[in-house]
Amino acid sequence: MENFYLHTSTEVYFGRGRAAETGEIVRAHGARKPLLYYGGGSAERSGLLGRIRSSLAGAGLDFAELGGVRSNPTANFAAYTARFAREKGCDMLLAVGGGSVIDSAKMAAYCVRSGLEPWDITMKRAVPDSRVKLGVVLTIAATGSETSDSAVLTHEGQKRGYTSELNRPDFAIMDPELTYTLPPYQTACGVVDMMTHTMERYFCTNTDNALADELSEGLLRAVIAAGRRAMQDPFDYEARATLMFAGSLSHNGLMGAGRRCGMWAHKLEHEMSALDPGIAHGAGLAVLWPAYLRFLSADEAAQARLCRYAVKIWGLEPDFERPRRTVEAGIEATRAYFNSLGMPSTLRELGLSEADIARMSDGCTGAGTVTYPAIVPIGRAEAERIFRLCL
Ligand code: NZQ
Ligand code: ZN
Repeated sequence: MENFYLHTSTEVYFGRGRAAETGEIVRAHGARKPLLYYGGGSAERSGLLGRIRSSLAGAGLDFAELGGVRSNPTANFAAYTARFAREKGCDMLLAVGGGSVIDSAKMAAYCVRSGLEPWDITMKRAVPDSRVKLGVVLTIAATGSETSDSAVLTHEGQKRGYTSELNRPDFAIMDPELTYTLPPYQTACGVVDMMTHTMERYFCTNTDNALADELSEGLLRAVIAAGRRAMQDPFDYEARATLMFAGSLSHNGLMGAGRRCGMWAHKLEHEMSALDPGIAHGAGLAVLWPAYLRFLSADEAAQARLCRYAVKIWGLEPDFERPRRTVEAGIEATRAYFNSLGMPSTLRELGLSEADIARMSDGCTGAGTVTYPAIVPIGRAEAERIFRLCL
């Protein structure tokens, strides 16, 4: 097991009806005027925003409001948000939504008082050392942004992540019932995303961490089953609760603790949703992940892990005589599961084509200047091979 640092500092308030406590929780965190911050209207339509407004007012809090965060959020909107919050005198960003709203809030929170620009921070041209307070009411189980140390923004066709312990929100209110209104496509995107967060870490380069392996395998089996159930019955509380908690556990650092790993498939996916912000992150991953496994399967060094993946996660019988068959079956099981959720499996289904591959391969490897240290290191040529397997 590798040495690690883990400090998942976000306070989690989990369970039915907890959004009603928002006002008290905001007040307990010392905020006097939060900015109620949301996306394109789902939280208004579901009545959630109304309940949060009442809860804030009930706690005697003044608040401002700003909606309109789009999926795959832009640095420009985060910058606008920071200016808006400054003008309104807000001392907290209260993000009501999913990864997009939360990430936009995370990056704006640095800039409210400092006057820094979100994109400068993302590109590490400016380093913030403080932010206004940051709270979350989560409405979709997916990215784990509600407790993660990362935030992702898009600017002029580039999508990049910024990692910092300060990115972890001060609190996250997580009521699984808030996800009942999700369109099936978004539920499925979330399942794929959280699975990929855990699976990428599972394909680490050290194999001396039995605890991490068992944790990941158990989490993935629970998510696979809950994903099926939530797609069949959107109001299945246990399934929704499993997905919501698993989304956080997949990306709060726990699954990577003691492992040598990185989010390399994620780097590739971000190129896809950067080219077309209409591509949902999870849908891009559904195309990419099976292709990434196929790419890995060509390498001897990856065989043992791929076999274990097939057996422990997908419940397949090991073929000791012909382990390649087990590997293939594991990859096919992954693709079939994603398809059963209604996810795409090719670039074409996402509206991308062979003509986009060179640009995406350049984008994720700094035009060939970066190689990621995975089981099979991924430089530009490897990225291109993986993208071609997505065609
Ligand atoms: O905007 P509204 O109207 O609210 O609709 C949203 C949006 O259209 C809708 N939605 C959310 N909750 C709903 C709902 N609709 C009905 N009922 C509800 N309860 O779902 C759509 C997708 O929302 P979005 O926030 O974009 O999805 P997600 O949570 O998947 O976030 C994606 C973004 O997060 C980044 C992705 O790259 C992408 O930009 N990621 C952030 C990470 C992080 N910060 O740790 C890690 C991830 O790997 C990821 O890269
Ligand atoms: Zn992700």
